[in-house]
Amino acid sequence: MKACQCILLLFSCLFLDTLALECEVIPGNLKQIDAGIGVVGGVNDDNEVFLLLGTDFRRINVTMKHFTVGPAGELAVNLSNSVFKFQSGKFSSIPVTFKQVDAGGDQIIVGITPLDDIFCLNKDANNIGPSSNFPWVQLAGKLKYYSCGPYSCWGVNSAGNVLIRRSVTGANCGGASSFDVISGSMSMVEVATDGSVYAVDTQGTLFQRTGVSSSNPIGTGWLGLLVCPNGHKHVTFDQGRLYVICSDGSIRRCI
Ligand SMILES: *[C@@H]1O[C@H](CO)[C@@H](O)[C@H](O)[C@H]1NC(C)=O
Ligand SMILES: *[C@@H]1O[C@H](CO)[C@@H](O)[C@H](O)[C@H]1NC(C)=O
Repeated sequence: MKACQCILLLFSCLFLDTLALECEVIPGNLKQIDAGIGVVGGVNDDNEVFLLLGTDFRRINVTMKHFTVGPAGELAVNLSNSVFKFQSGKFSSIPVTFKQVDAGGDQIIVGITPLDDIFCLNKDANNIGPSSNFPWVQLAGKLKYYSCGPYSCWGVNSAGNVLIRRSVTGANCGGASSFDVISGSMSMVEVATDGSVYAVDTQGTLFQRTGVSSSNPIGTGWLGLLVCPNGHKHVTFDQGRLYVICSDGSIRRCI
């Protein structure tokens, strides 16, 4: 009787706090993935770049350690932290040094330097095209990963703290005057083009931020999602599909 109650309790807890999703395996092995405006791309451990065509990842002939796609374009970072934007059929260099970039905001670019300094570029400057006089805006603070959606940007710092920048717009990529701290200890957090927020914690657990909207950008809590049997490494979401890299590098797409 007692054991039975415990098991029932455990089950209801699991179902309340964790959602098991229906997913398919996409062949390949990646360390990082990003999806936006219908394009899905990623990078493997050999820093080869792949784009998803149907259910196949096809390699493109560039060597990059990081790839991002969204309303701000397709950008990538090479092994020496040089940033490139895909334009007129090729990746053109932008004279700035970032270890990670994100193109998910309203045509703004955000980037993190190797020293975890935070920069952003407004929409009008980004749309001029790669330029050596880009008016990069520096935001006070340090982050190791930063990702933007339509009205806010979310980041994580080296301690795993989650921070949100509210009121971000195409004309004001810096948004509000400071970051707000969100509960949780994450290794990465990703904002989709529709504003939804996903994260992976330092233990490899996958989460979705619940209750996020333009009127409540911080949302209400973290909902655990179960996609990979042995832990999660990276996540991105676009057009109703969640793409997850598992701890072993395998790739899953969920609806
Ligand atoms: C790939 O790029 C390398 C270096 O830029 C070049 O030498 C090679 O010909 C390219 N291969 C293809 C198939 O385009
Ligand atoms: C990265 O790109 C920069 C700018 O084009 C170039 O000078 C540098 O050699 C590249 N690094 C690597 C490792 O290819």
